[in-house]
Parts: sequence; structure tokens; C-alpha cells
Amino acid sequence: MMLLKNLFLSCQRLSTLLIFSSLLTFARTQTLDPNFKEPITNVTASVGREAVLSCVVQNLGQYKVAWLRIDTQTILTIASHVITKNHRIGVSHSEHRTWFLHIREVRPTDRGGYMCQINTDPMKSQTGVLDVVVPPDIIDNETSTDIIVRENSNVTLRCSARGSPTPNITWRREDGNEISRGNDEKAIAVYGTNFTITKVNRLHMGSYLCIATNGVPPSVSKRIVLIVHFSPMVSVQNQLVGAREGQSMTLECLSEAFPKSINYWTKDKSEIIAQDGRYEPVLVENAYRVHMRLVIRSVSASDFGTYKCVSRNSLGDTDGSIKLYQITSDNAIDHSDNTKHKSKLRKNTSNNLIEGKRDILKEQDLKLRGRKDTLDGDEDYDDDSSATNKNCNILCVILSFALVYCFHHHPQLQIFHPA
Ligand SMILES: *[C@@H]1O[C@H](CO)[C@@H](O)[C@H](O)[C@H]1NC(C)=O
Ligand SMILES: *[C@@H]1O[C@H](CO)[C@@H](O)[C@H](O)[C@H]1NC(C)=O
Ligand SMILES: *[C@@H]1O[C@H](CO)[C@@H](O)[C@H](O)[C@H]1NC(C)=O
Ligand SMILES: *[C@@H]1O[C@H](CO)[C@@H](O)[C@H](O)[C@H]1NC(C)=O
Ligand SMILES: *[C@@H]1O[C@H](CO)[C@@H](O)[C@H](O)[C@H]1NC(C)=O
Ligand SMILES: *[C@@H]1O[C@H](CO)[C@@H](O)[C@H](O)[C@H]1NC(C)=O
Repeated sequence: MMLLKNLFLSCQRLSTLLIFSSLLTFARTQTLDPNFKEPITNVTASVGREAVLSCVVQNLGQYKVAWLRIDTQTILTIASHVITKNHRIGVSHSEHRTWFLHIREVRPTDRGGYMCQINTDPMKSQTGVLDVVVPPDIIDNETSTDIIVRENSNVTLRCSARGSPTPNITWRREDGNEISRGNDEKAIAVYGTNFTITKVNRLHMGSYLCIATNGVPPSVSKRIVLIVHFSPMVSVQNQLVGAREGQSMTLECLSEAFPKSINYWTKDKSEIIAQDGRYEPVLVENAYRVHMRLVIRSVSASDFGTYKCVSRNSLGDTDGSIKLYQITSDNAIDHSDNTKHKSKLRKNTSNNLIEGKRDILKEQDLKLRGRKDTLDGDEDYDDDSSATNKNCNILCVILSFALVYCFHHHPQLQIFHPA
């Protein structure tokens, strides 16, 4: 009887054991192994922001998900626990299916591969890559400050920027005008760290912007002012001016200089003409150009003679001369209704003078000194024109009329300026 009871008990135990093991077998065949539902999406984050990598799993069961950093072989998180001491790391999940690795205030050093691992045997893993981009920043000690150069020298403006990806450098004029770099090349923008201008001229003077961009906002720019120094240059439109006594007259010169020049008028080689009742010197400045005018209210006999407009700066000085002669009834010409044409003519001609373009007046009337082509010294180019002036008589005046007339095809030219 005792034996029977024992047998029964062991039988019971055996069957329980059998049932349990068959249940286990059943569970094992019915439950699928955990695996990844989709690959990790690579992430690009801007420095300082939060980056989130996500790992999607299915059939996790009792297994756990861990995040590791590949470069350093460190375990960052296991399930919902942060293992690393890096306080910028966090972990979260959505129904044990999507596991998020949070990296706050990302730094460039956080770049690299991150592994999502499931502790199966053998373990399963997949990796994602974090890239950290950095907006551009101009490196001050490798970037030009404002530059002063002499005309005709070569100059290089530099601008360097850090950032990730490596920023591109673009140069523009602040005023939006085109940039000329010699050899007739013109462009609205120039690319590259080093921006070289060969044979710089006064037209290059201005503010330039170096703009660094790498696709990560914000772009940055720096303003660099280029100053071009050159000795004064004076151009005179009309070197011979006739007037009647009692008439009002205006003598005119155009001066270019930088640094800014001191400009004044002299008469007959000596005195500086000051403003008084009869004379009124007027200066109109526009950047490095000065339009000099001398208004003579009422011409008297003592006013006839040679006037000079003088322009002087630290690099030198130069002048232009204008001879005011008397018109008597014998040499008078019709000068009515000329004001309009006159001012037009002057505008066109003065542009031509500056640019040295085809202009008959240039040879005849222009006195150019303070040359573009020499940097040092201010040798006196003066000047066959003053010799010509001295000997100039009415015939010569008529000759210049003829030239002016031919060039401009206009029948009504005058040589004096009604004030
Ligand atoms: C993530 O980037 C790595 C390396 O740059 C690349 O091999 C992988 O295919 C990328 N993954 C995805 C999902 O685009
Ligand atoms: C600019 O400064 C950095 C440090 O501030 C220095 O490492 C670098 O050599 C400097 N560059 C130049 C061209 O002086
Ligand atoms: C300026 O550059 C040009 C072309 O590179 C060169 O021929 C010339 O000698 C340079 N001039 C000066 C003053 O360095
Ligand atoms: C710019 O000029 C500097 C100094 O002359 C030189 O070291 C650098 O290599 C140049 N950079 C480029 C891109 O030409
Ligand atoms: C830099 O400029 C080059 C050529 O213009 C362009 O292909 C490249 O995408 C630019 N890089 C960035 C970061 O803007
Ligand atoms: C003079 O300038 C005016 C307008 O500024 C222009 O219409 C005219 O064609 C010019 N004449 C010459 C000869 O250049």
C-alpha cells in the first residue's frame, strides 16, 4: 500500500514535470525571437541641439535593449537605465518597441556610430551614425582687417572660417557693384579664402564683405574696407575762357585724390583766392572727387589772367590752369542759348577725361598730372600746355572752337560760362 502511494506520487510529479516541460516547449515554439523592425535612421544635428536616435524592435519579450557608443566601446543605456556618467545622455521608449537615445547639447565630439543591441544569445545589434554640423564662424586672426594700399600695387584680402562642413567663402562689394580684378574680368562675387586684386586702382576703393556659408544657418560675414591711396590728379575742361567786363564767370576743375586733398584757387602764380564779395570758391565733394568751381561775380579788367586750381594731399600736389581772357566786340561770338548744351557737353567730356577715352579735348585741353603710372615722386609734368597758353591768341581760340565743334557736331559752342 505504501509502495503504491509512493508510486502514485512520483507518477504525479512526473506528469507535472512533463506538463511543465511540454508547456515550455510550446512557449518556445510559439514565441518568435526578438529582432529589429527597421534600420536606424542616421541623424544630423546642429551643435548645441538635441539629437535623438531611434531603434525599433519587435518581440522583445523579456529581453533588453541597450545603447552603446561604438568609438569608445561604452555602454550608454540598458533598458530604461542610463549607465554612462555623461549627464547629456538619456533614454526613453514607446511601449518597449521604439527605443530612443537622447543626446542633449550635442558637440562635435559626439559624432560617430551608435549601436542598439538586444541581449539575445548571440546578441543582435544594428548601428546608426550621428553627424554634428557647426555653423560657420570667421577666424579673426586669419582674416584681413581694413587695408590701405597705394594705387597700382597688388593686394590680397583674406578671410578664413571654421565650421562643419568646411565653409565656402564668397566676396562681394557692400554696395552691390561688380568687382573688377584687372584683365577686364568682372564679377558680382569672387570665391575663395584669398581674394587678390592685381594693380589695384581707385575704383576698387570701398567696403567688401567676406561671407562664410556651409549650409548650416546662420551664415556670417565680415566687412573689410579697402582704401586706395593716390596722389592728386586735376583735369580742366576749358583751359581758355573768354569773358566781357562786367559779366559773371565760373571757372571749373575736377580733382581726384585720396587721402582727401586740400583744394584751392590761385591767381597769377601767387595769392590763394579767398572768398570775398567778388570771388566765391565752391567745392563739391563726392568720395575721392572734388568738383572745384570759382565764381567771379563781375569780371573786371584786373581779373583777366591765369588761374590755377590746386589739389594737394600727403602724396603730392598738382594743379590745372585756366586762362581768362577778355572778349571785346571784335572777337565776340554768339553765345545765346548755350547753357543747356554746355552742361551736357561738360558731363560727357569729364567722364571721358577720367577714363582716358577717345576725346579730342583731352589732348587739347586736359592737363593731367599726378600720374597713375608712378607711385613715387611727383615729377612735374608741366607742361607744354602752359607754353601754348602763353602764346595763345585769338587764332588759337578759334582753333579750339573748331576742334570742339567738330567733335560734338554742335554749332553753338561757347567758351565762357554764364554764372
Ligand atoms: C548611415 O550612415 C552610414 C555611414 O555614413 C551608412 O553606411 C549607412 O548606410 C547609413 N544608414 C542609413 C539608414 O542611411
Ligand atoms: C589664430 O589663433 C589661434 C588661437 O586663437 C591659433 O591657434 C592660430 O595659430 C592663430 N593663427 C594665426 C594665423 O595666427
Ligand atoms: C602684381 O602681380 C602681378 C601678377 O601676378 C605681377 O606681375 C606684378 O609684378 C605684381 N606687382 C607687384 C608690385 O607686386
Ligand atoms: C592664402 O594665402 C595664404 C598666405 O599667403 C596661404 O598660406 C594660403 O595657402 C592661401 N590659401 C589659398 C586657398 O590659396
Ligand atoms: C562650396 O562651393 C562649392 C562650389 O561652388 C559647392 O559645390 C559646395 O557645395 C559648396 N559647399 C558648401 C558647404 O556650401
Ligand atoms: C552725352 O551724355 C548723354 C546723357 O548723359 C548721352 O545721351 C549722349 O549720347 C552723350 N553724348 C556723347 C557724345 O557721349
